[in-house]
Amino acid sequence: MSQQITPPADFTRQFRNALGMFATGITVVTTRTPEGEPIGLTVNSFNSVSLEPPLIVWSLTADLPSTPVFENAEYYAINVLAEDQAALSQRFASRAEDRFAGLEFDEGTGGVPLLRGCCARFECRNTVRYPGGDHVVFISEVVAFDREELAPLIYHAGAYRRLAP
Ligand SMILES: Cc1cc2nc3c(=O)[nH]c(=O)nc-3n(C[C@H](O)[C@H](O)[C@H](O)COP(=O)(O)O)c2cc1C
Repeated sequence: MSQQITPPADFTRQFRNALGMFATGITVVTTRTPEGEPIGLTVNSFNSVSLEPPLIVWSLTADLPSTPVFENAEYYAINVLAEDQAALSQRFASRAEDRFAGLEFDEGTGGVPLLRGCCARFECRNTVRYPGGDHVVFISEVVAFDREELAPLIYHAGAYRRLAP
């Protein structure tokens, strides 16, 4: 007799929808390839872990072309998007050839790209990685950060939101 070893067809969709009820901010995680090219992607799995030492967490889809670059990078940056940066979130989640085209950015530790106009920017030393199902979980030490008094971009139920005034 055959056994069902995969979840029901709509389990994944229902699970995603339920997870989407957890409102988050949005970040763009950036680093450089070994050739020095800036790369980055939109990430909302970011969160805080520890104050002393200062640690943060995020998870990266395991089979992306950029995954080995992030796994091997010495440093990367978490750029927390402000409410007027939804277009940047879209750009860094898209198939755009060069996501940094025309974008001015600062350079942090190890040359990591720091996007401008963000609420906060965390420069991280790539410390440990754990397998997490179809994702790789990064827990990293924050070596520098800055912050601006700007309202954040919010993501909820698959849509961009702003904080109510
Ligand atoms: C709001 C939002 C949040 C996202 N969060 C994550 C995330 O936490 N981890 C992840 O691996 N991909 C996340 N993605 C998807 C990636 O941004 C997207 O797959 C991107 O194209 C991957 O970059 P790559 O094509 O350079 O590999 C998110 C996308 C959006 C729009």
